[in-house]
Amino acid sequence: MNLFRKKSIESLIQTSETTSLRRVLSATDLAMLGIGAIIGTGIFVLTGVGALTAGPALILSFVIAGLCCLFAALTYAEFASMVPVSGSVYTYSYATMGEFIAWIIGWDLILEYLLAVSAVSAGWSGYFQSVLDSMGIHLPTVLTAAPTALDGTTTIMNLPAFLIVLLITLLLSVGVRESKVVNNIMVVLKVAVVLLFIITAVWHVEPANWKPFMPFGWNGVMMAAAIVFFAYLGFDAVSTAAEETRNPQKDMPKGILWSLGICTLLYVIVTAIMTGVVNYPDFAEHQDSPVAFVLKSIGQDWVAGFVSFGAILGMLTVMLVMLYGQTRIIFSMSRDGLLPGFLSKVSEKYRTPIGSTWFFGLIAAFLGGFIPLDELAQLVNAGTLLAFTLISIAVMVMRKKQPDLPRSFKCPWVPVIPILAIVFCMVLLLKLIISFDYLTEVTKGTALGGFFEAIGTVMGGQNYMDGVITLTGQRFFIWLFIGLLIYAVYGYRKSKLAQEQ
Ligand code: ALA
Repeated sequence: MNLFRKKSIESLIQTSETTSLRRVLSATDLAMLGIGAIIGTGIFVLTGVGALTAGPALILSFVIAGLCCLFAALTYAEFASMVPVSGSVYTYSYATMGEFIAWIIGWDLILEYLLAVSAVSAGWSGYFQSVLDSMGIHLPTVLTAAPTALDGTTTIMNLPAFLIVLLITLLLSVGVRESKVVNNIMVVLKVAVVLLFIITAVWHVEPANWKPFMPFGWNGVMMAAAIVFFAYLGFDAVSTAAEETRNPQKDMPKGILWSLGICTLLYVIVTAIMTGVVNYPDFAEHQDSPVAFVLKSIGQDWVAGFVSFGAILGMLTVMLVMLYGQTRIIFSMSRDGLLPGFLSKVSEKYRTPIGSTWFFGLIAAFLGGFIPLDELAQLVNAGTLLAFTLISIAVMVMRKKQPDLPRSFKCPWVPVIPILAIVFCMVLLLKLIISFDYLTEVTKGTALGGFFEAIGTVMGGQNYMDGVITLTGQRFFIWLFIGLLIYAVYGYRKSKLAQEQ
């Protein structure tokens, strides 16, 4: 039963008290960290695809994805207040469900954060180049995109994407204090341009554009929810900063809930305005910068310029916080012996985990520079949804096993909220990895036919050709398989817990 060896919560609390990282972050800083990670590609870029998938009912998709994150965030917050150690859901599950599950989750989170940084860097590069273009500066085409990213054009690498991740890595490696100040300034600017969009465009809403509200039915709404879920990704990065927080028990839950609440409100308002100003099929030609397109369509080119500038900054902070979260998870996994020791080395000078910062910063830079990652946003979502499901299970396990442990924040209505989180996450995850259309087709005329047809009206599927497991699903399972191999040949033996026992 060694696979299920567990850390004690007490030992986690002790680790947190003797941490070598600096304690500099307050609740407000955490909320800023969260907003920095959340508002980005999702709202500035994915709303275009979302509107084409769900029509004006994209508003509902954002509400559904937001509810899913809210339920998951409430469970996260309980854990964060109980186990204030860096490493997020990975660390929590080590104490509740044992090493093996913790490893799977940690491996899964690497997928989430690493690919998110790379994907956002590619999106950032697109916006950055369009601003350069408008100033008359044109990069050589071969350096503008990853190989095979542009049909019929030879490209070598996406140089801006590569360089921006390196710059962010440098910032993180010299210390939290510096990164925090940069992050806070950018978050203020980013929220300001979102508000600017709202104030400018709200007067041009024509309710006729909201009809038909749901042109692709619930199937479209749910598919869009599974895609725009990406827009909320990042609030969990807050919980990875526990060891650098002044008063983690009180400040973590506040930081998580505030950042998520503010973002949900902004998203729903922005989406309602976007689909109210522009007729949704018009987004087909403007999927790279849908928010700017809306402003241009009402003759506000100057405002569109400001908003594009804000989008560039917005994506910067997303990458900053994602990479921050990533390095802290790796730091914890390495400290536990599941990954090589150099990844948890803390720099004497800057007191940051310099090894993991540079190791993963470089990998993220290469992925963003050399691989077209658009499709992989779905893979990022799948990894996150599995992680959220597992943390919700862990909350219920902990309530049973350690009911007396002090929790300065308690998730309300347990087990209702964790179960709702699990149901929402599983529906969105299944939507991404299973094609119910395919199942409906192959079970037609059999006893199961009616069953899958009924589910298919909501769940549907976009990758019918891939078979029952979608392309995203196939990649997801391959990633998990590689993780199992690494655990079997390395982590299982090298684990600190294994050596202590
Ligand atoms: N939520 C982040 C974004 O929208 C990942 O870019």
